[in-house]
Amino acid sequence: MDIATTPQNPEGNPELADAAPMPHDPPVIRREDYEPYPWIVPETELDFALGIGSTRVAARLKIKRNPGTESTSPELRLNGDGLTTEMVMVDGARFGDWSMDEGDLVVNLPGESHTVEIVTQIDPSANTALMGLFASNGMLCTQCEAEGFRRITFFPDRPDVLSTYRVKMSGSKDRFPILLCNGNKVGEGEGDGGTHWAEWHDPWPKPSYLFALVAGDLVANSAPFTTRSGRVVECNVWVREEDLARTDHALQSLHRSMKWDEDVFGREYDLDLYNIVAVSDFNMGAMENKGLNVFNTKYVLADPDTATDADFDAVEGVIAHEYFHNWSGNRITCRDWFQLSLKEGFTVLRDQLFSQDVQGEAVKRIEDVRILRAAQFPEDAGPLAHPIRPDSYREISNFYTATVYNKGAEVIRMMRTLANFGGQVDNFRKGTDLYFDRHDGEAATCEDFITAIEDGTGLELAQFRRWYRQAGTPRIAVRQTLGDDGLDVTFRQTVPDTPGQRNKGAMHIPLRVAVHCRETGALGAEQLIELRQDEQTITLPLSGPFPVLSINRGFTAPVIIERELDSADLVFLAAKDDDPFARYEALQDLAVRHLVAAASQQLDQAGRAEGKRLVCDAFRSILTDPELDHSMRGELMMLPSETYLFEAMAGSDPAGIRKAEPLEIHKEREQLKTVIGVTLKRELEGLYAQVADVPYDDPAGRGARKVKTQIAALFAASDPERAAIMASRQFDQADNMTDRQGALMVLCGLKHPARDERLQAFYDRYQGNALVIDKWFTLQALSLHPDVLSHVKALAEHPDFTMKNPNRVRSLYMAFAGNAHAFHAQDGSGYRMIADVILALDPINPQTAARFVSPLGRWRRIESVKAGLMKAELERIAGTEGLSRDTFEQVSRSLD
Ligand code: ARG
Ligand code: ZN
Repeated sequence: MDIATTPQNPEGNPELADAAPMPHDPPVIRREDYEPYPWIVPETELDFALGIGSTRVAARLKIKRNPGTESTSPELRLNGDGLTTEMVMVDGARFGDWSMDEGDLVVNLPGESHTVEIVTQIDPSANTALMGLFASNGMLCTQCEAEGFRRITFFPDRPDVLSTYRVKMSGSKDRFPILLCNGNKVGEGEGDGGTHWAEWHDPWPKPSYLFALVAGDLVANSAPFTTRSGRVVECNVWVREEDLARTDHALQSLHRSMKWDEDVFGREYDLDLYNIVAVSDFNMGAMENKGLNVFNTKYVLADPDTATDADFDAVEGVIAHEYFHNWSGNRITCRDWFQLSLKEGFTVLRDQLFSQDVQGEAVKRIEDVRILRAAQFPEDAGPLAHPIRPDSYREISNFYTATVYNKGAEVIRMMRTLANFGGQVDNFRKGTDLYFDRHDGEAATCEDFITAIEDGTGLELAQFRRWYRQAGTPRIAVRQTLGDDGLDVTFRQTVPDTPGQRNKGAMHIPLRVAVHCRETGALGAEQLIELRQDEQTITLPLSGPFPVLSINRGFTAPVIIERELDSADLVFLAAKDDDPFARYEALQDLAVRHLVAAASQQLDQAGRAEGKRLVCDAFRSILTDPELDHSMRGELMMLPSETYLFEAMAGSDPAGIRKAEPLEIHKEREQLKTVIGVTLKRELEGLYAQVADVPYDDPAGRGARKVKTQIAALFAASDPERAAIMASRQFDQADNMTDRQGALMVLCGLKHPARDERLQAFYDRYQGNALVIDKWFTLQALSLHPDVLSHVKALAEHPDFTMKNPNRVRSLYMAFAGNAHAFHAQDGSGYRMIADVILALDPINPQTAARFVSPLGRWRRIESVKAGLMKAELERIAGTEGLSRDTFEQVSRSLD
């Protein structure tokens, strides 16, 4: 439905009824409409006269007709967004035959080959959207992906137009002592009136979205890296002076990534310089601009006093991600934005494999699956569901999603499994080698990637391509019977309907499976099966009587497995499976089953007691298993997330009658924590004694810290007084942020005097450190405290709060939107707060505002009273005039 013309006015007030709708809906861009650009731009020269309040950009483009197209039209369309044209020159002379169209500049060129020069003037200080050239903390920097370059100068701002860039920039020497751009510095000098200049040249042709420029007062932590062929690369991490001491981890992570990509994917770096710059105002995590990555400070700065173990891992992962883009993204880029997963899915897989190697495979895999289930599964089951290669969009920024990134990575991971399972050599690597070789220097498609993998590995991926076209998480119902030759297992797969897609075809799904024996404890050999039909039966060999099927080991495929399994079998798998993921999964399954049944009021007294007893039994074996290292133990001790539980509760009900009840889930989950805390008090105390005082640098320190905080969190539910003592002690004695934050997290949920004391102490200690103050906001917004809503309202008035900094906005409100018991408050106050945030933020930063729509968009799968309240907030937003394209698109999809 077209929401711009939806009546917003039940009483028929004529004033409201006549309210002007959006001038017109933002147009829909479709994948099938792709056409190559009729021109090529072999060379681009830019000259920036930099100023925070005013920057002048002179662009000089060498343009030729694209020999690969048939167009003979004289029209040269250059994208622009909010730019005004002062003058157009063609071949050195003033030129009059141009016009403006929706922000674009359209020039009618007489011939086949020209030089076009355009001057524009922009105001970086007014750029609160943080796309294009903007000011942050006194410095100037850029973000051009996906369509930010058109806010700097007129250009064919699409990823399939590759050009080499020569960039000169000049500005105040005082304000901008450091001037950086892509590629290599080829000249510098002094100018008039206290200015200086630098000239940069990037030899690698690139699309405009990979352009970057940084000017500011920065210092670098530097160390050279020598590539396998002997190129010495100067690596710099640029930050403000006061942050320099927190850059070692980022620099070391960069070196590790460079080495790993040589060893594992055979990819070597291709410039003499690699610059990373940290900025505090940034919409996303980081950006892979050629030779000049721009990063959110959150993914650069880390030291033990201010960053948690998880923060260290995140820095390492994002540094690796952006580095790996140099090949999967920059050397080979995307033909159009529908191909985004070509670079993002593949690069996420590469950073995950890297982190598995350096941080530990089992735990990293569990963490990645947890993220997928908490963020991507709900997306795939809601109104914003889209295939990893979408078919249409209005605003491409809305498609930087968990689906394109994380499910995209899972899909390529399945190809890798199919190529490598059981083999001695890295057959998948033959596919990626061929891909890099075949498409180097090109703007490619997902289809190009799949074909290269087929040709390089020998796989046949015809049906597998459906993973690129079909949205929705496949569900596999599993039934088993004991046959004469083994265990007969029947798999029935369904791919749910999603917006614009119904009656989908069967997927090609690889699954690693094994059949164990519960009686003897014998573990069956693992094998890879491949599902291709709606329903099929496969006979698996037995390893003894009482067969227990271990399925989707290592989370081979991003699917939901539905099976009737004896609880005793799950307890067995949780305690004994040799696949660490399967072990985790069995424990999760036990908890999910109990919590969903309890929250849907399907259990009587005895059923409840039995469910809790089973979870406690499984937990006991986790707490006391001497073979487990603490990192894995800490992972296993985490109950399934509430979002994952909503999905399980709303489930696959084809009639759509079963709905999630977030408050019931929350209540049951907290109750289960209480029962675990009470029942296993002795085991938890024993474990606590082992982990409480392991030194920070001890090899077992990380795991110990994880377990310690998990224990305190369980006691917070069962024995708040004991938890307050434990957490206060942990906080006071902490010599690192992991312990400090973990303790404060537990205290934040308690009604106890220690809460406010420690919150204040934390604030006083870190006042002025933006990233740590973000944590302070988040801990309060995410807490289990019954008064979260009023805490968040008060925090919004805190002098440190601002709507202009995305990290700060997210630290308060994304945390709140993810805090089920507060967001889903029965009176709708949580929904109203998030809708108000969207409306207040949209004029400032539409890209970040639009990210807050999806929590409200889940209304269809939620119990009807709350669903109505959520929908009403979405309608209130939809009825507001002047919405950004970003928010308009997400809200209208959520109401459709
Ligand atoms: N390519 C970047 C990365 O994943 C993210 C850029 C996001 N840009 C955007 N407009 N959403 O590393
Ligand atoms: Zn990326």
